[in-house]
Formats: sequence, C-alpha cells, structure tokens
Amino acid sequence: MAASDQDAYVRFEQVQKSYDGENLVVKDFNLNVESGEFLTMLGPSGSGKTTCLMMLAGFETATSGEIILDGTSINNVPPWKREIGMVFQNYALFPHLTVFENLAYPLAVRKMNKSEVAERVSKALDMVQLGAFGGRRPGQLSGGQQQRVAVARALVFEPKLVLMDEPLGALDKQLREQMQYEIKHIHENLGVTVVYVTHDQSEALTMSNRVCVFDDGVVQQLAAPNVVIRAA
Ligand SMILES: Nc1ncnc2c1ncn2[C@@H]1O[C@H](COP(=O)(O)OP(=O)(O)O)[C@@H](O)[C@H]1O
Ligand SMILES: [Mg+2]
Repeated sequence: MAASDQDAYVRFEQVQKSYDGENLVVKDFNLNVESGEFLTMLGPSGSGKTTCLMMLAGFETATSGEIILDGTSINNVPPWKREIGMVFQNYALFPHLTVFENLAYPLAVRKMNKSEVAERVSKALDMVQLGAFGGRRPGQLSGGQQQRVAVARALVFEPKLVLMDEPLGALDKQLREQMQYEIKHIHENLGVTVVYVTHDQSEALTMSNRVCVFDDGVVQQLAAPNVVIRAA
C-alpha cells in the first residue's frame, strides 16, 4: 500500500455490512478519502451508499472490516464523538425549533457559551444566504431554504469532515444546480473534507475531485471526473 493511502483522512478497509446476518449489502468496500477532498459515491438506489455513510457517521456498525478516521480506528467510537457533520436525505430539521435553534443545538450539545453560539450560528447562516431567517421555523421555509439550513447545521460546529447523502434530491433542476455550485463554493472556502452521495451522474461529475462509482456493494471505479466521463 502506498504511503499516501496510509495517510488518507478517511479509510474504509475491507468493510462489509449485513443487516440480516445473511445478505451482504456492502460486500468488500475499500476507499481512501484525502484531507480536503470532495469525494462522491455515485451509484443506483439500493446499492449501499447510505449504508456506507451511516457506518462512517457511526449510526450503523460494520459487520466486518475497519473504518479509520485521521489515523484512528473509529469502529467503537460513538457518533457524537466523531465530530462529523451530516446532511441527511431528508433535511431532518427539528420542526418545533426555529432556524437559529436548529443550528444552536449541535453547539449547545458541545457546551459552547451563548455568545459564541450566536456568532457561529450567524456565520453559518450567512454562508448559505439565510442570515435573515434565524427566527423562522422550518415549516415557514421553502424546500430549498430548509435544505440550506440543513447544510448550515452540518457546518456550524466546524467539523473537518462533512457527509452529504443525496442532499439535493428533493429540489427542482434549477435550484439543484444553484445549490451544487454553492456547496462546491463552501467546500473550497472552508477546505473541509466532503463525502457526498448521489445517484445523479452529472451532479457527481460537476462537484467532485474524485468519483467512486459504486454498485451492488462494491467499488466499480474510483477516478477523477474526466476519467469517469470517458469510461461512461
Ligand atoms: N436499516 C436497514 N435494515 C435492513 N435493510 C436495510 C436497511 N437500510 C438499508 N437496507 C437495505 O440495504 C440495501 C442498501 O440500502 P442503502 O444503503 O439505503 O442504499 P442506497 O443509499 O444506495 O440507496 C438495500 O437493499 C436496502 O433495502
Ligand atoms: Mg440512500
């Protein structure tokens, strides 16, 4: 294995996952994600993409194999200790809390003081152009705005790694393309490592440093977008 592989920020090593103890939905998953990289897992529905993200986030455990974050095996580290930002397929905002409170939540859990919370929340909301919306509840926002809140909430505690699971799936084409651009822009500005999941090939190719083409629980191809285009 090359030295750079050992140094990768995220490593999946021979990871398998079975939910029923019989069928493997992830069969032999090996992946290195470099620090600061935007890596996209591209694969059809049911291929095991969400399962892989959930294992990295810590909401599912691997049946076998190892997941390594920043040089440390995290198989036994609970999700809240992994310091990973997560944007889910549905936005998963708290409906009874305001936008401000939704963003303050992950900071309050980390016992941050009130003035720092206010500062971080306003910075994160500005990043997604929602500075004026802190007082609204999710139900008073459009789908696109709710999605921006979800992105801001994943970034607000300044994680080094952010996972995004088909975050733009519910948006119409125009808004989707605008948000692709904005997420890419945030990635470049913050230098954060992003593992992104989509079944949309053009989305994967426009946003990523590298694309992991994933099907049936295994990696089919791992390459830069221009290489994936030639193979497709
Ligand atoms: N919590 C679960 N319990 C049992 N089976 C699951 C669970 N989550 C996903 N699966 C199954 O695992 C396979 C992969 O699902 P998933 O990781 O959601 O794929 P994708 O995100 O690529 O659509 C599917 O066959 C799905 O039905
Ligand atoms: Mg999924």
